[in-house]
Amino acid sequence: MKRVIVTGAAGFIGSAFVRRLLEQRPEVEVWSLDVLTGVAGHLGNLEGVGGPRHHLVRGDVCDAALVQRLLAESDADTIVHLAAETHVDRSIDGPGAFVRTNVLGTWTLLEAARLRWLRPGHDPGGCRFHQVSTDEVFGDRWAAGRGVEGDPADEDTALAPRSPYAASKAAADHLVRSYQHTWGLPVSLSYGCNNLGPRQHPEKLVPMVILRGLAGLPIPLYGDGAQVRRWLHVDDHCDAILLALEAGRPGRAWAVGPDRGTSNLELVGRICALLDQRRPAGAPHARLVTHVADRPGHDRLYHTAADRIRDELGWRPRLDLEPALAATVDWYLDNPAWLSRVTARASWRSWTERWYGGR
Ligand code: NAD
Ligand code: DAU
Repeated sequence: MKRVIVTGAAGFIGSAFVRRLLEQRPEVEVWSLDVLTGVAGHLGNLEGVGGPRHHLVRGDVCDAALVQRLLAESDADTIVHLAAETHVDRSIDGPGAFVRTNVLGTWTLLEAARLRWLRPGHDPGGCRFHQVSTDEVFGDRWAAGRGVEGDPADEDTALAPRSPYAASKAAADHLVRSYQHTWGLPVSLSYGCNNLGPRQHPEKLVPMVILRGLAGLPIPLYGDGAQVRRWLHVDDHCDAILLALEAGRPGRAWAVGPDRGTSNLELVGRICALLDQRRPAGAPHARLVTHVADRPGHDRLYHTAADRIRDELGWRPRLDLEPALAATVDWYLDNPAWLSRVTARASWRSWTERWYGGR
C-alpha cells in the first residue's frame, strides 16, 4: 500500500481514516476523493490535514471519467471506498440518492479499478479495493434469532437488508464480490457496526443527543428505545480497516465490532449522565428525552460476531464504550466552532425544520 485513494474522505469515518493513514504510515500518499455534499461531507472535517502526501480531489464517485483519470494519474494501488449516502432516515425520506451514490458509485469505481489494475501486462498483486460496509446489510438479528442475544451474523451470513440505505449498501457489496469472482479483482470488505467519535454529523444519534442536550432541546428517542446497536470508536474502526488492508488477504471479509450491544435508551442515558457531569447547570439532561414515533421498519437488533478479525488479524477495540463516549462528548464540547459551522449550513437548517419542526 503506497498510493491510496480514500473516497468519502471528508465525511466522519473518511476524515478519521485519512488522518490515521497520514500519521501512522509515513510512506503512504493519499488522494482524498469527496463530492463534499455539504451535509455530512465538508472541508471542515479535513481541517489541519495537509502536506505534500495529501491531495484533495473534489469529485463524484459516479463520474466515470473523473474516477478513471484519478486512478491513472495517481497510479493508486489501493482504494478504500467509504463514499456513501449514510443516514437511514434520509434513505426513507428519499432513497434515490442512495441508489445512485451507493450502488452506481460503487460500480463506477469497480469498473475503473478493473480497467486499470487488470489491464493487459499489469500485475494486480499489490492492489486492493476495500469496501467499507455495514452490519446493517445482515438485517434485523432480533427477527432472525432469540431476542436480544439474537443470532449473530458473520461474514458468510446471507445479506438481508431492510432499509433503503442497507439495501443500497448490500447491492454494492454484491457488486464488489462479483468483481472478484468474475474477474479476480483483489477486493476485501469490512462490516462495521455503529461508530462514534469526532466530526460525526449531528443528524446521527450520538452528536444529536450532545447538541440538543447542551441546548436544552427535546432529545427524540424513536419508539420504545429498546433497539440494540453495537458501538465502536471511529479510530478503532479505522485501525480494523488498516489491518484488513495490510494483513488481510484479498477476497476476505471481516465483521468489526465489540462484544456487547447497548440499547438506545441506555446509550442516551449514558450520554446524558456525561453531560450532567460536564454541564451541571443543565442537569438532569435525561429529562429532555422524549419518546417519538418510531422510524418506519426500524431494525431492533444488529449483531455481528467479530471473531474472524480477532482470530485472524489480532484486532481488538482499544476503547470500551464508556471511555469512547466520554472522549466523544469532550470532543464536541471542545470544538464548538466545528459544531456551529455545521449547524449554520442551510442543509442543517432545512433538516432541523423538517425533522424537529424548527427546534
Ligand atoms: P458520512 O455521511 O459522514 O460521510 C460520507 C462521505 O461521502 C461524505 O463526505 C460525503 O460528502 C461523501 N459522498 C457522498 N456522496 C458522494 C459521491 N457521490 N461522491 C463522492 N463522495 C460522496 O458517512 P460515514 O459515517 O463516515 O460513513 C462512511 C462509510 O462507512 C459509509 O460507506 C458507511 O456506509 C460506512 N459505515 C458507517 C458506519 C457508521 O456508524 N457511521 C458504520 C459502518 C459502516
Ligand atoms: O450500524 C452501522 C450504521 O450505523 C451505519 O451503517 C450508518 O451509516 C449509520 O448512520 C448508523 O445507522 P443507524 O441508523 O444505526 O444510526 P443513527 O445514529 O441514525 O441511529 C442510531 C439508533 O438511534 C437507531 O436505532 C435509531 C435511533 N435514533 C436515531 C436518531 C437520529 C433515535 O432514537 N432518535 C434519533 O433522533
